[in-house]
Amino acid sequence: MNPIQIALLGAGTVASGVVKVLERNQEELRRRAGRGIEVAAVAARNPEKAREALGQDLPITQDFMQLATRSDIDIVVELMGGISPARELVLAAIAAGKHVVTANKALIALHGNEIFAAAQARGVMVAFEAAVAGGIPIIKALREGLAANRIEWVAGIINGTTNFILSEMRDKGASFETVLGEAQRLGYAEADPSFDIEGIDAAHKITILCAIAFGVPVQFDKAYIEGIAKLDAADIRYAELLGYRIKLLGITRRTPAGIELRVHPTLIPATRLVANVEGAMNAVVVQGDAVGATLYYGKGAGPEPTASSVIADLVDVTRLHTADPEQRVPHLAFQPGALADTPI
Ligand code: HSE
Repeated sequence: MNPIQIALLGAGTVASGVVKVLERNQEELRRRAGRGIEVAAVAARNPEKAREALGQDLPITQDFMQLATRSDIDIVVELMGGISPARELVLAAIAAGKHVVTANKALIALHGNEIFAAAQARGVMVAFEAAVAGGIPIIKALREGLAANRIEWVAGIINGTTNFILSEMRDKGASFETVLGEAQRLGYAEADPSFDIEGIDAAHKITILCAIAFGVPVQFDKAYIEGIAKLDAADIRYAELLGYRIKLLGITRRTPAGIELRVHPTLIPATRLVANVEGAMNAVVVQGDAVGATLYYGKGAGPEPTASSVIADLVDVTRLHTADPEQRVPHLAFQPGALADTPI
């Protein structure tokens, strides 16, 4: 069978990770997906820079819309980040009958309902494993591995930048500003680091996990969000003296009154596994009624960890591309309105 044709929208660090891992693991991927996965073309604002980052061989265009809707493309991989023009491009790709794989947490948290409805109507798949916790397959865990369970709660360290800042402040007594500068240099921080510091990035991610865990639409506007900006070294020291670590957690939980959805600094007993997740690492705990507590740990950012999740979605979509269309959408997209009356 001919390789499936993918278009990359964006040529930044994640795109370079995707190109590299697709090339390096092509034989395994062909076996797992049932056919090859080929990058047909890349859309980039700066073709020169893109060529340097991705290699000389790939066709590069500056016309994102043309590539997103081109007739020979099967899957559009959106790696641009931000809302606009990513939203318009994703909707246009869906309207043109393309499956979409995206790493864009803000896009899914804010416009997921619209995107899933469009995908469902058009009979195409939307997959977004890389949008939450980088390389940790947490969406697949919730959707597949834990499918037997009634999920009771999900709680996690899902922003590497703030975890790095809190770890460095505790270990080295460094100031908030110094460590934030270091996180930016290491490439963990968002383009606008206030998204990390103010808890918005973590809120995007826990909003997505909430929707999947509890089968509700994405409702970012319902999240309570408090970041780490008000913490200082003394808070961290006192917590330590009392036997606790401070972590920025995203939490979503069923309660008799509805579903909780929140992000805030949390005191965790220092003996707990999650309290010992250091640096830019992520960790998510999921409590299911049958399985009990399960813990997922790994790199939450970086080109290859994020590429790992993007490519896992590409393998899934490639496999399902030839399956019964009736089976596709429920597998990867939400069922909008499934539990829409459950308050958050
Ligand atoms: N800024 C994000 C983080 C990148 O620090 O976790 C990965 O989503």
